[in-house]
Amino acid sequence: MSSNNIYAQRRARVAAQLGEDGIAIIPTAPERPRNRDSDFLFRHDSYFYYLTGFAEPKAWLVITGDGRSTLFCAPKDLEREIWDGFRLGPQAAPAALSVDAAYSVDELDAQLPKLLENRDAVWYPFAIHEGLESRVGGWLNQVRARVRYGALCPEQQRDLCAILDEMRLVKDAGEQDTMRRAAQISARAHIRAMRLSAKMLREGQDVREYHLDAELLHEFRLGGSQYPAYGSIVAAGANACVLHYRADVAPVRKGELVLIDAGCELDGYASDITRTFPADGKFSGPQRALYDLVLASQDAAVAATRAGARFTDPHEATVKVLAQGMLDVGLLDANKVGSVEDVIEKRAYFQFYMHRTGHWLGMDVHDCGSYVEPSEVGEVSERKDPLSGEVIKNRPSRVLQPGMVLTIEPGLYVRPAEGVPEKFHNIGIRIEDDAIVTAEGCELISRGVPVKADEIEALMRA
Ligand code: GLY
Ligand code: MN
Ligand code: MN
Repeated sequence: MSSNNIYAQRRARVAAQLGEDGIAIIPTAPERPRNRDSDFLFRHDSYFYYLTGFAEPKAWLVITGDGRSTLFCAPKDLEREIWDGFRLGPQAAPAALSVDAAYSVDELDAQLPKLLENRDAVWYPFAIHEGLESRVGGWLNQVRARVRYGALCPEQQRDLCAILDEMRLVKDAGEQDTMRRAAQISARAHIRAMRLSAKMLREGQDVREYHLDAELLHEFRLGGSQYPAYGSIVAAGANACVLHYRADVAPVRKGELVLIDAGCELDGYASDITRTFPADGKFSGPQRALYDLVLASQDAAVAATRAGARFTDPHEATVKVLAQGMLDVGLLDANKVGSVEDVIEKRAYFQFYMHRTGHWLGMDVHDCGSYVEPSEVGEVSERKDPLSGEVIKNRPSRVLQPGMVLTIEPGLYVRPAEGVPEKFHNIGIRIEDDAIVTAEGCELISRGVPVKADEIEALMRA
């Protein structure tokens, strides 16, 4: 079916890659019980939503190589709808979603063997949906039982992620627009949290991490976001050195830094922003020295992010600045670790900077998409990791293209250790922005929240 519906266009692009006799099966996410009669909040499967824009649970999509799409969805059921809410239902689905046919999900097991018959390859997302492989196996078995009557059974099973990940990696204009709006909401939320922290401390209140988390959530929902894109990190003081810390009950104290890594999800797309700020609005000398270093390393990474550059270029630019800075401020001692080249070569910076500088961002906060350049996948080299001694197979890093979206998130995390100046102990800093790659450089879509130390101090005074 030709259509100006964006989801139908995406399905047509998938169909064109399945082969004439191929078939693809894509379920949405399962509903997950939380306790007794209460489920976790339902979140659709990203692949399924990318191809349908349909957010109901209990739904499956089938695409065939001839370009036809079939939807299986929850049937209309007044009694269930009274309890659980509106269902589109199979009768209304073709017009609403531009699919060619729709059935009740109760007919899935009856229809799938018929749809699989006389196909050569069946595609589905590998290792995403628990139990899907055996379900497909069961349907294939039913087709096999009919081969003596002349039916053909698919001989190949292929990973649909290979097709969909490449498509999702480059965001179209509509996706970019949604991601800009998501980042703007998140930026406002960060500003509110910074201001609340300073205000409560000025008023002498007992500030806790969860107070700032509440402020974030409030602004996310005010902006129309459905939920946070991931568990918000609100880490006061030394907690900032725990990379996957979650907002908890720890006190937010004057004189300490607060690291907030939080972003909302809007209409299926994530934002992912980190800011680190002084709880009371004023950086101390050592805090400011490290903050400015992380920001300088981020500036270098931003300058390295443009179409034609490699995914690893921003990381390498970051590491150069951080490594030099660690020597300059005395986090590392040149007498022990040598020159900046040695620090990079031996990965001595890893003590204070142990993660990569970014990841793809999109429907998923750590979005899909290969980090290896597909046209150079055969060019394998080997290197020995200087810290673990492990031999690592390297393939050329992905060449950035306009419309790819990635985070740029350098940091420094200083745990107390021998030889580390005490004035830096327990300081954890990360600065994270979201970037759309353009031909000339990149567009930072998350800068609605200031990033320069002076600007953060000014907004917290206001
Ligand atoms: N918030 C997850 C990340 O920064 O990767
Ligand atoms: Mn991130
Ligand atoms: Mn983050």
